[in-house]
Amino acid sequence: MKQTLLEKIRNHTARVCVAGLGYVGLPFAVEKGKMGFHVVGVDNKQERVDMVNRGINFISDVKDDELKDLVDRGLLSAVRSFEDAGDIDVLVIAVPTPLTKNLTPDLQSIENVTRLFAPFVRRGQLISLESTTYPGTTEEIMLPILESGGLKAEKDFFVAHSPERVDPGNPHYTTKNTTKVVGGVGPESLDVAYAFYSQTIEHVVPVSSAKAAELVKVFENTFRAVNIALVNELALLCDRMNLNVWEVLDAAFTKPFGIMPFYPGPGVGGHCIPLDPHYLEWKAKELNFSTHFITLAGEINRMMPEFVRLKAWRVLNSFGVAPSQAKILVMGVAYKKNLGDCRESPSIEILEMLVKDGVQVVYHDPFVSEFSQNAISMQSQPLTQDLIERQHLVMILTDHSNVDYTFLATHAAHILDTRNATRNVAVNRERITLL
Ligand SMILES: NC(=O)c1ccc[n+]([C@@H]2O[C@H](COP(=O)([O-])OP(=O)(O)OC[C@H]3O[C@@H](n4cnc5c(N)ncnc54)[C@H](O)[C@@H]3O)[C@@H](O)[C@H]2O)c1
Repeated sequence: MKQTLLEKIRNHTARVCVAGLGYVGLPFAVEKGKMGFHVVGVDNKQERVDMVNRGINFISDVKDDELKDLVDRGLLSAVRSFEDAGDIDVLVIAVPTPLTKNLTPDLQSIENVTRLFAPFVRRGQLISLESTTYPGTTEEIMLPILESGGLKAEKDFFVAHSPERVDPGNPHYTTKNTTKVVGGVGPESLDVAYAFYSQTIEHVVPVSSAKAAELVKVFENTFRAVNIALVNELALLCDRMNLNVWEVLDAAFTKPFGIMPFYPGPGVGGHCIPLDPHYLEWKAKELNFSTHFITLAGEINRMMPEFVRLKAWRVLNSFGVAPSQAKILVMGVAYKKNLGDCRESPSIEILEMLVKDGVQVVYHDPFVSEFSQNAISMQSQPLTQDLIERQHLVMILTDHSNVDYTFLATHAAHILDTRNATRNVAVNRERITLL
C-alpha cells in the first residue's frame, strides 16, 4: 500500500488535492501541475474556484500563462467540495490560521477542512498540513478526526506537517527553490511525505516529528518578529537621543559576522509575523511556560503605528497645523513593498487613526487600487504634482520600488518617511523627517 503510493508519487501519477487556493495553495498547485501531477484545488470561495477553472490567475507569485496552460491541458482544476474532487492520493492543506480578537489561535479552517475530508480518507493516502500553526496541531487536532472512520495513520494512511515558507513577491526564492522542512506523525508518514515533496522542491529537510516541523515554522517567524521589535525599539530610543536610526543600523550591518540586517518601520503586517508567534505563546501557556520574547516583541511592534502618528503630529505642529485641519497623503497601504496585500497592514491602522483625528487623508499605492477594511473604504489617487502640493504632509508607510521618490520630495511640503525609502533622494533633504 505504501509502495503503491510511493510509485504513484515517483512517476507523478498521484492525484494531488490542494485545500485552500490562496498565497500558499495556488503556487504550490501550479508547481505540482508543472511536474505533471493532476492537481485539483478545493476552496470554499466560489469566485476562486471559477477563476482557476477559467485559467485566470489571482496570486502575484503565479505566472498567468503557466496557470492557463495547466488548466487548458487538464492538469489543474478547482472545486468547492471534496465530493467533487475525485479519488485523491495526496491532500495538501493550506487554509488560513488567523488569531481571534484575544490573540488566541483560530483553527476553525483547519478543523473544518479535516472534518470535511474525513469521510474520504482511504488506505494509501498522504495528508499533509502546510498551514502555520502551534506544535501539536497535526497530531492532537487533525489525527483524531482523520482516524474517526476506523483507519489508522502509519498503518493505513500517512499524515505529515510541512510548513510553507513562501515569501510572496521574493524574486529569488519561490516554492521550488526554498528548502522545505517535513515531519511525519511517524516514520512511515515521513518517508512518504519526504518522497512527495522531493519531487518538486530542490532541498527537503526531514525532522523527527510533525510537532518539530510545526515548531520550526513558528520559531522562524518568531525570530523575525523579535528582531524587528529590537530595531523598532532602537528607533524609539534614537528618536529620544536625536540620532538617525538608519545611519546607526547601516553602520552596524557593515560587520561581516555576528549580526544580520533587520529594519524598523511603522509596524508589522501580513498573515505571518504579527500572528504566528502568538500561536506558540498560546501553546506554551498550556505548559505553564511564558514566552517573554514573543510577548515583548508583540508589544513593541504594536506600539509603532501610534508612534508614527505622534511623529506626524510633531511635524504638523512645527508648521502650526492642527491635525483636524491637516491634509495628508499616505504613500503605500500594503503591508510590504511591491505587493498588493493589505492583511494586518500597519498602514491601514495608521490611516484609520488619521481619519479618526479628522485629517483629510488620501492615499497612493501602485499595487492597491482600492481597499475596504473596518469602517474605511478608499481608492488610490494618481500621484500627480498637484496632489502632492495640496498636502501639508506626505507619509511614506510602504516603500514600493516603483515610486519616484525624488519627484515626491521635489513637490512635497514635508515628508515623514517611516521606511527610509528616500535614502537616495538628494533634493530637499531638510523637508524629510525619518522614523
Ligand atoms: N501568505 C504567506 O506569505 C504565507 C507564508 C507561509 C505560510 N503561510 C501560511 O499558510 C496558510 C495559508 O495562508 P495563505 O496566505 O495562503 O491564506 P489565503 O487566505 O491567501 O488562502 C487561504 C485559502 O483557503 C480558503 N479556505 C479557507 N477556509 C477553507 C475551507 N474550510 N475549505 C476550503 N478552503 C478554505 C480561502 O478561501 C483561501 O482561498 C496560513 O496558515 C499561513 O499562515 C502563509
